[in-house]
Amino acid sequence: MTIWTPNLTGRSGPKYRALTDAIADAIADGSLTSETKLPPQRELAYALDLSIGTVTRAYKNAERRGLVAGEVGRGTYVRLGGSKQVAETLWAPAREIDGPISFVMNLPPAGIAATALAETFSDLGGSSHLGSLLDHQANGRIEAHLQSAASWLGRLGLDATGEEIVLTNGAQHGILMALMAVANPGDTVLAEKLTYPPLKQMAHHFGLKFHGLDMDDDGILPDALEVACQKTQANVLYCMPTLHSPTGMTMSTQRREKIAEIARGNSLTIIEDDVFGFLPEARPLPLASFAPERTIFVTSVSKSLAPGLRIGIVRAPENHREALRNAVQMSCWMPSPITAEITHRWIEDGTADQLNAWLRQEMAARCQLARDILGSAASGLQALSYHLWIDLPESWTEETFRTAAEQRGVKVASGEIFLLKPGLAPQSLRLALGYETSRERLAKGLTIVAELLASDGARRSSIV
Ligand SMILES: Cc1ncc(COP(=O)(O)O)c(C=O)c1O
Repeated sequence: MTIWTPNLTGRSGPKYRALTDAIADAIADGSLTSETKLPPQRELAYALDLSIGTVTRAYKNAERRGLVAGEVGRGTYVRLGGSKQVAETLWAPAREIDGPISFVMNLPPAGIAATALAETFSDLGGSSHLGSLLDHQANGRIEAHLQSAASWLGRLGLDATGEEIVLTNGAQHGILMALMAVANPGDTVLAEKLTYPPLKQMAHHFGLKFHGLDMDDDGILPDALEVACQKTQANVLYCMPTLHSPTGMTMSTQRREKIAEIARGNSLTIIEDDVFGFLPEARPLPLASFAPERTIFVTSVSKSLAPGLRIGIVRAPENHREALRNAVQMSCWMPSPITAEITHRWIEDGTADQLNAWLRQEMAARCQLARDILGSAASGLQALSYHLWIDLPESWTEETFRTAAEQRGVKVASGEIFLLKPGLAPQSLRLALGYETSRERLAKGLTIVAELLASDGARRSSIV
């Protein structure tokens, strides 16, 4: 008799997880139905050329995910009905599924990370150093965590050693720490004219002045940077060269070289925000690799693994490292060693690569949906991006569009919130494509946006 033998080719990550995923997929597509008995472990191991230990681990994992139930002497069975329900509960993110469709929060799709977390929690239970994870860490750090964080930056194209790394509670905390380390009240900080909104609150709080830099399709204009340096005597530049938010543009290598050169010539410290840099299959080297001696490179796992882990990875040049560590110590002592440990394990055991592969695939499908539904309005969308910047037709203002969209159950972020300084609002909006829990809801929301863009905003605004 032939046994159920899944095809594992093309599945990344450890073999046991590939087999667990294959079981989940077979249940989802109906090829394994409720109460079906899975093949005996020895036979499946032989058929797939795996060790019995690998198959045992996969079956245990499947049981943990609620897909199957094992009974001593009876074997392992697909769970009656429960599998889908348990999986759905496990994966359910803290996001609305019935309310308005939202394009506001720029978060990754909630995917398969919860499954990985269930496994990691279970593995952690058998760890010999659980007590140390609950303890205060000497110098606020665990060497292995710093090593894997450094290797993660290597994947983004930035050479780094564990010694150069400071871990934070996410990128936002990393940016705040960097500002605390390099700027004093009254200093001027340069940034793209359209920028990450919390930066404004940080500036306000620290008594910093901001100066906005003009951009073109390739990012910050070198001339604008040169002139601003002369005019303001600024000593810090904050920027997002890769998948800039809100515009989505990625600065070319030549432009990065130029910006690094100007920064060097004007003794600027650069704070490079690279939270989206893991997403493109191919990307220019980080700005930090052109000016490593003066760039504080900030990223986090919020967009690449899961926002709830709250782990930021900062690489700082030597002259700023102590101030940065002091700032972290003063603000929170250290990020939680437990989530740092989860992040470390995921980087080392292939889980992070697997989650990234899933995210790229999901975002590719979502970006394609946006192109199909929005047509030319999505022409600025990069091959892979979490967000899309849309210039509104003249008949709409961002306010009338936002109100009209809201009346049809769709929330959009207006361009104004990204303005570094109050001024003429760009008549544009940013659509974050990762937040919605299903492609169906995303498509529905995009269709409403497309219909509104095609309709006459001026007339509509007089009706609403
Ligand atoms: C451009 C940018 N930088 C930094 C952050 C902060 O990320 P984290 O969740 O790691 O604090 C975000 C989050 O939305 C972001 O969009």
